[in-house]
Amino acid sequence: PGRWTTENGKTCLREAFIPFSTGTRVCTGAGFAMVEGPLLLAMLVRKWRFAAVPERVPVPVAYLTVRAKDGIWLEVRRR
Ligand code: HEM
Repeated sequence: PGRWTTENGKTCLREAFIPFSTGTRVCTGAGFAMVEGPLLLAMLVRKWRFAAVPERVPVPVAYLTVRAKDGIWLEVRRR
């Protein structure tokens, strides 16, 4: 995380990391999404344990964004 506190890191955070786009058509829900995402994740991992399926290692594929070629396979167990 320390890399985001350097001068270069701060510039990258503003100019290179743009999941919500930038400029006049920037995502108006960005602030909400940054609260909603971690909240949902916290609620899920509180009740469930997620583990990677060893035979199904995700293969990253880059289009506009990076995704897993055949999805991300997880074993889900109740805590
Ligand atoms: C992780 C979640 C989200 C991501 C990654 C995301 C990403 C984006 C991106 C990249 C754009 C620009 C699209 C373009 O230039 O054509 C956009 C636009 C927009 N987003 Fe999101 N978004 C997210 C969640 C949300 C949420 C939760 C809301 C509403 C509550 C929202 C409302 C909007 C609206 C209204 C626009 C259009 C803004 C405009 O064109 O003036 N987004 N979003």
